[in-house]
Amino acid sequence: MDPVGILYGDIHPTLVNCSVSGKLRQGDYVKLKHHEDGWVLGKVDAIEAKTNLSIEKSYQIMEGNNVEIQQTISAQIVVIGYLDNKGILQYPRTPFLAGTPVYLADDDFISSTLNVGVGKKGRAYIGLIYGHSIPFSIDINSMVQKHISVMAKTGGGKSYLTGVIIEELIKNDVTVVVIDPHGEYGSMKNKASDSEEMKRFSIHPASYGNRIVTYSPDHGDEKLTFTLSQINVKELVSIMNLSDPKSYVLPLRKAIDAIRLSSRDYDFDDIIKELKRQDDSSLSQTLEKELIYLKSLNVLGKRGLRVDELVSKGKVSIIEMKGLPPDMQELIVQRLLYALFEARKKERIPPLLVVVEEAHNFAPQQGKAFSSKIMRTVASEGRKFGFGLLVVSQRPAKVDKNVLSQCGTQLILKVTNPNDLKAIGNSVEGLTNSSLDEIQRLPVGTSLVASPELPIPLFIEVRPRETDDGGKNVRVVR
Ligand SMILES: Nc1ncnc2c1ncn2[C@@H]1O[C@H](COP(=O)(O)OP(=O)(O)O)[C@@H](O)[C@H]1O
Ligand SMILES: [Mg+2]
Repeated sequence: MDPVGILYGDIHPTLVNCSVSGKLRQGDYVKLKHHEDGWVLGKVDAIEAKTNLSIEKSYQIMEGNNVEIQQTISAQIVVIGYLDNKGILQYPRTPFLAGTPVYLADDDFISSTLNVGVGKKGRAYIGLIYGHSIPFSIDINSMVQKHISVMAKTGGGKSYLTGVIIEELIKNDVTVVVIDPHGEYGSMKNKASDSEEMKRFSIHPASYGNRIVTYSPDHGDEKLTFTLSQINVKELVSIMNLSDPKSYVLPLRKAIDAIRLSSRDYDFDDIIKELKRQDDSSLSQTLEKELIYLKSLNVLGKRGLRVDELVSKGKVSIIEMKGLPPDMQELIVQRLLYALFEARKKERIPPLLVVVEEAHNFAPQQGKAFSSKIMRTVASEGRKFGFGLLVVSQRPAKVDKNVLSQCGTQLILKVTNPNDLKAIGNSVEGLTNSSLDEIQRLPVGTSLVASPELPIPLFIEVRPRETDDGGKNVRVVR
């Protein structure tokens, strides 16, 4: 094996420069031998050519003259480390020697040093290390206990990757609830069509129709309903389209109190009837119109779904909210997370992972959504109870920092918005400037993965989906 370069110049234990003689590209994994610790893994963080061609001489070339150019290529290498005899990743404590040769690292050395979970159980296989055939997986327990986030600009492949993770959770019998504002995930019941690309990733088409149940107000497998009597009057008034919501609280409360004297449960018709009985001022006419509108959304009724009807071991419950107004969606997320969290604390339902798509809407950094508080609670306390969150958003900068900062594993696809890049740079440890630069150029289907389990953030080529990818279908409709 020929070296691709030689260490030169100032040498730090974790950052070294090497002259490049062979074929070496940014992002390549390399190995170099430390005089005390043996073979150490590194990664090319930046690469640069230095030339002696001055601007004056470049004009001579333009004029057709021959100019001799001297060029040297230099690479900056981040030292990842080596496994000690206990299998723990260590950095060399003393600098490498100048003149040390640098070699391209082989797949075995990369996968054993990086601890990417080849062959371990209870892991979600999400793809291959970029540029290699090394499978990469994430520990499922740590996902449920420490939460996970998926960030990228629109069309960056967030829903696709989230689908990949859900497939892996299904195979490991993990209980999942998906908050699906666009109705993209129901397609996971169907097989993907076979492709050449699947072979490279050792993937086969599969369908999980028997494990997935969709819930929606009118077209899911099951009807999505919540108990109206559990929504308090203030919440009810604030999802109505009223110019002066406060003035409606009292009459509505009076009507509901009156109904409650005779029955615990009620629906919108009962409230309208009672309002009419009490008086017929213009106030209640406006209220009636809004109540009829809320009734038409078909979400709130006499008796809602019970959590143990919605969730059971190994089942994937997809909450389709397409077409519902934003505040109703927030209310649904709030009710649902609250009920699930309470049920989980009492161990009435199994440990689970809740996927929250469009998380910036349900846990915004600025302003407040109905679901803001429970999202924070679950993010900070969920781990104690085996209640994981998978937070998906195209605007990392707009997601509540209190929620995002609790995510142990971060999956980042292509991001270009400067504010979002800044938010990512602030929240992901060990991200170099050149990785941030690379995030802006990532092709669809490549993700950066950062987690405390990993010595450095890694670029991963996301594996193909086994199931039909709903993102495609949505695009056709648009
Ligand atoms: N890893 C991948 N391999 C192949 N196609 C992908 C991959 N990731 C995304 N796509 C395709 O790119 C498009 C956008 O993906 P999607 O997941 O819907 O993006 P987002 O949810 O970030 O807006 C979809 O048509 C999807 O099929
Ligand atoms: Mg999406």
